[in-house]
Amino acid sequence: MTGTDKLIIFDTTLRDGEQSPGVTLNTEEKIEIAKQLSRLGVDVLEAGFPIASVGDFEAVQRIAREVGPLMDGREKIGQPMTICGLARSTPGDIKRCAEAIAPAPRKRIHVFLATSDVHLKYKLKIDREECVKRAVAAVTLARSFVDDVEFSPEDAGRSDPDFLCTVLGKVIEAGATTLNIPDTVGYNTPEEYGKLIQYLVENTPGGKDVVFSTHCHNDLGLATANTLAGIANGARQVEVTINGIGERAGNTAMEEVVMAIHTHPNYFPVHHTINTQLIYRTSQIVSSLSGMIVQPNKAIVGRNAFLHESGIHQDGVLKNRQTYEIITPETVGVTDINLVLGKHSGRNAFRERCKELGFVDIQEADFQRAFNEFKALCDKKKNVNDEDILAILTNQISANVNTSFYTLTSIQVVGGAETTSMASVKIFDVKAEKELSDAAVGINGPIDAIFEAIQRIINRRFRLTKFDISAVGEGSDALGKAEIQIMVDPATTVVTNSETVPDERVKKSAFSSCIADVDIMTAAAKAFIASINKQLVYESELAAGTARNFGDERKVNV
Ligand code: KIV
Ligand code: ZN
Repeated sequence: MTGTDKLIIFDTTLRDGEQSPGVTLNTEEKIEIAKQLSRLGVDVLEAGFPIASVGDFEAVQRIAREVGPLMDGREKIGQPMTICGLARSTPGDIKRCAEAIAPAPRKRIHVFLATSDVHLKYKLKIDREECVKRAVAAVTLARSFVDDVEFSPEDAGRSDPDFLCTVLGKVIEAGATTLNIPDTVGYNTPEEYGKLIQYLVENTPGGKDVVFSTHCHNDLGLATANTLAGIANGARQVEVTINGIGERAGNTAMEEVVMAIHTHPNYFPVHHTINTQLIYRTSQIVSSLSGMIVQPNKAIVGRNAFLHESGIHQDGVLKNRQTYEIITPETVGVTDINLVLGKHSGRNAFRERCKELGFVDIQEADFQRAFNEFKALCDKKKNVNDEDILAILTNQISANVNTSFYTLTSIQVVGGAETTSMASVKIFDVKAEKELSDAAVGINGPIDAIFEAIQRIINRRFRLTKFDISAVGEGSDALGKAEIQIMVDPATTVVTNSETVPDERVKKSAFSSCIADVDIMTAAAKAFIASINKQLVYESELAAGTARNFGDERKVNV
C-alpha cells in the first residue's frame, strides 16, 4: 500500500464502548479483549478512564503491563500497541491516568474538555477564555508525563469552528500531538462533519504537524459515514469500537470503517494494518464477554451479513460470487471450512484449534475445564465446530471471573404444555463453602421457575431487563446461548455500607452475562447466576468505597 497515508486505528471498545448501558466488563474480560485487539492490529487502545474507580485504574494498569508489550500477531506492524487512558482536564485525573498507563512501552494520555457554548454555559459554567486556559494547562501537565498526548474538544460537532481553531492551536503549542474531533452527541451529517475536519486541518495554527482524528457517535445512524467523510477530508486517526458498541446508539464500528477502506482502496487516501481475517472472531469475543448481542443484519459481522436468502441472489452467487457479494466472508474470518472436531479428537488437536482461534496463552486450569466441556459436548453433538469452541472458550473467561459468590451445581425441571413448571436448583455458596438448594414453581414456564428458585436460595430479588436465547450454529444439537441482563428489584432495599442508608447507585446498575451450554435451561441458569455475581461484586465494591459510577453518573461529569 504505497502512496497512501497510514490510518491510525484507535480502539475505544474498553472505554467508550464499555459506557454502553448494561455493559460491564471486569478486569479479566478486559484483558482478554485487549489481547485480541492487539492481535487484530489496533494501533492505539483506549483501555479505560482510570479516575473513574479503583477497578478502572487497576484494569488500565494491568492492560498496560500485560498487553502493552505484546508483539503476538503484530510482526508486520513492527511495534506493540499504544495504551491510552482518558482523563478530564484536571490535575487529579491526569496524574492518575499517567500512573495507570506507566508500565506500557508505548503510552498516551487523552485529555478532554468541552468547547461548545451549550456545554461551557450550562455544564462547565465557564467562558471561552477559561476553557482555553484549562485545555492548555491540561495538555502541558499531560506532556510532563508522556510525549504522546491527545486532546479532545468534547462536543466539537456543535462547537464554533473558529473557537475550535483557537483552542486547538493553543493545545498544539502546549504539546498535543493528536487532535480528536468528537461528534459527542451524534448530531452531524457527513458533509458537515467532513467540512469541519477540512476547516480545522487548514485553519488550526500548527495543524499541519499533528494528527486529526474522528470520534463519531451513532445517534442518527451516521457514525460510519461521518468517520469516512472525516478521512476523506484529512483525518488520519479514527476512534472506533468493535460492533459499534458505545454510549446511547453507540460509536463508529471499526469493522465497517476498515472494510469500507478495504473495498474502496482507490477512493480513500489511506491504508490500515488491521488483520481483517480476525474481525469476525473479535466481534464474537466482544459480544460474548460484553453481553451485547450483534444484530443479525449488522454490517460485516451480523449473522446474516453473508447469507443470501432470495432465489435470484442464490442463483447469482452460485454462478459467480461477485454477482451479489462485495466482500468474501473469508476476508473477515467467516469460514464454512471450519475444522470439525469430534469425540476422537485429543487434547493436542483441541489445543491447536484454541490457538488458531486466538486463545494462545490459555492457562492450564482453564484449558482443562474447556477441554472437559468440549468432551461433554462431543458426547451430545457429533461434530463440534469453531463456533462451538469459541463459545466454550469465552464461557471459560466469563466463568472464571464471575464465580465469586455462587456457582450452579444442578437443575431439574418439570414442565410442558398445560402444566405448571417446577424447578429444583442446587447452587454452591462460594463464600460459605456449602451447597444450597430450593424449588419453585414458574407461572411463566420453566425458565421462570429456575430464576425463582435461584432468587429464593440467595434471598434476593432481581428484575430481568434482557433475556435472549439463541443457537450457536445450526441444528437441533447446537449449543444454546443465553444472554441476560439484570437489575435489582426496585421494590427491595439494599444496604451496601455500614450505615443504614441504601446506596441509590445499586438501583441504577445493570449487569449482563452471556453463557452457552448444550442445554438452554442450564445456559440461562448459569448466565443468571453470573449476572448476580457481577451485581454482588459491585455491591461489595460500593461498600468498600472502590466502585465506579453507573447510569447518569457513570461518565464522570466535568
Ligand atoms: O464522545 C466524546 O466526546 C468522548 C470524548 C471523551 C472523547 O467520548
Ligand atoms: Zn464518545
